[in-house]
Amino acid sequence: MKKFSITIAGGGSTFTPGIVLMLLDNLDKFPIGEIKFFDNDEDRQATIAGATEVILQEKAPDISFTATTDPKTAFSNTDFVMAHIRSGKYAMREKDEKIPLKHGCVGQETCGPGGIAYGMRSIGDVLELIDFMDEYSPDAWFLNYSNPAAIVAEATRKLRPNSNILNICDMPIGIEELMANAIGLNSRKEMEVRYYGLNHFGWWTDIRDKEGNDLLPQIREHVSKFGYVTKDESLQHSDASWNSTFAKAKDVQALDPETVPNTYLKYYFYPDYEVAKSNPDYTRANEVMDGREKFVFGECQKIIDEGTAKNSELHIDEHASYIVDLARAIAYNTKERMLLIVENNGAISNFEPTAMVEVPCLVGSQGPEPLTQGEIPRFQKGLMEQQVAVEKLVVEAFEEESYQKLWQALTLSKIVPSAQVAKDLLEDLIEANKDYWPELK
Ligand code: NAD
Ligand code: G6P
Ligand code: MN
Repeated sequence: MKKFSITIAGGGSTFTPGIVLMLLDNLDKFPIGEIKFFDNDEDRQATIAGATEVILQEKAPDISFTATTDPKTAFSNTDFVMAHIRSGKYAMREKDEKIPLKHGCVGQETCGPGGIAYGMRSIGDVLELIDFMDEYSPDAWFLNYSNPAAIVAEATRKLRPNSNILNICDMPIGIEELMANAIGLNSRKEMEVRYYGLNHFGWWTDIRDKEGNDLLPQIREHVSKFGYVTKDESLQHSDASWNSTFAKAKDVQALDPETVPNTYLKYYFYPDYEVAKSNPDYTRANEVMDGREKFVFGECQKIIDEGTAKNSELHIDEHASYIVDLARAIAYNTKERMLLIVENNGAISNFEPTAMVEVPCLVGSQGPEPLTQGEIPRFQKGLMEQQVAVEKLVVEAFEEESYQKLWQALTLSKIVPSAQVAKDLLEDLIEANKDYWPELK
């Protein structure tokens, strides 16, 4: 059986150890001969890589391992590039969140002005990684979960149309786990769903068990009372702020009680509420730096110091097993049904064909085959048209280095109240991102 070669781009990510442990837990389903880490921050990556070396020695000494900042080493002879980079790291995430709050707008990593700013940084960096893959391993597949995934996906569609790229987000998977838990199933894999939307902007319209029994009424009832709060906590999304997000889904669902929504819609439906409860001096970036980042890097340093992982509290990112499902679908043509971010091309019949939408797809060795979701209602269509225009304008602004288009994108964002606020925001964001964005004309 072929053993696959994996490149993890963003080797220094807080999510890397959980993904490595998850890959090691699935070697029977997806054999791996080589793992390579690539990052542009050698020091940051070194801690995660040092711990990984110890973990591999103990669990899978046959897997060869390299951590590098050299693209040729990282991207040669690879089968899958798993990309989770964060352009500008947490220092810039903090600015993405705090600058909008200063202007009275939601400050969020992927939504509104923060997401737009992050998008302008991410596009070039992700395209560069794709070019490395295309140069050194042209038959490999690029599995992208670098954010803001909606904007990055549009950029890959438009600017790298011939590369093998799959764009995916774990939020629907995380929410489906909570749904399964809420109605007493063991796993989200017992459910089959219909869903449509954009990334971080969608709705479930049908949820059934494998026998075809309708589970949506039960789930709707739970969400209308408790949002996605359940007795068992999600391991990845366990901070208090995530719990409040899961609870708020109740108010999001009230807008269309026939469906159940993606949690991120709260930023568009209740921006005033979100701003009021935000602390402009301590945002989610600070919470992550004080929480997940300290924990992961502390544990990795401990593994290095002790020369063993046996006392480590790092846990398998079970949740991330969708990455194995996705790689297996390509490698073994499994036709697994998964939600991916793909070009609409008629999957939503009354929506822009070139929009990058999130819909169920059958994934095989040729890539994703989107499943038709039919016509969508006016409310969702209106919201999605506005949001997709924002995402497309950001990619055009990047491509054309256009101040005008980025101002239009910010003005069109539902989260920004006026063209004046959009302009003030843009001036601040340009200043904060001068080391990262193209210079705008
Ligand atoms: P992190 O800052 O801990 O890790 C990102 C790593 O990327 C850092 O080590 C950084 O040095 C590196 N990096 C930045 N720019 C690079 C470049 N141009 N080339 C190579 N490496 C580069 O961040 P994190 O919180 O672990 O998140 C990582 C990414 O994964 C983020 O984009 C995050 O939003 C994304 N994410 C996405 C999903 C999803 O649902 N799609 C889920 C979880 C995380
Ligand atoms: C969810 C989203 C991701 C996001 C992640 C981490 O899983 O789908 O896109 O990056 O949460 O968010 P956090 O605020 O914990 O870094
Ligand atoms: Mn996501």
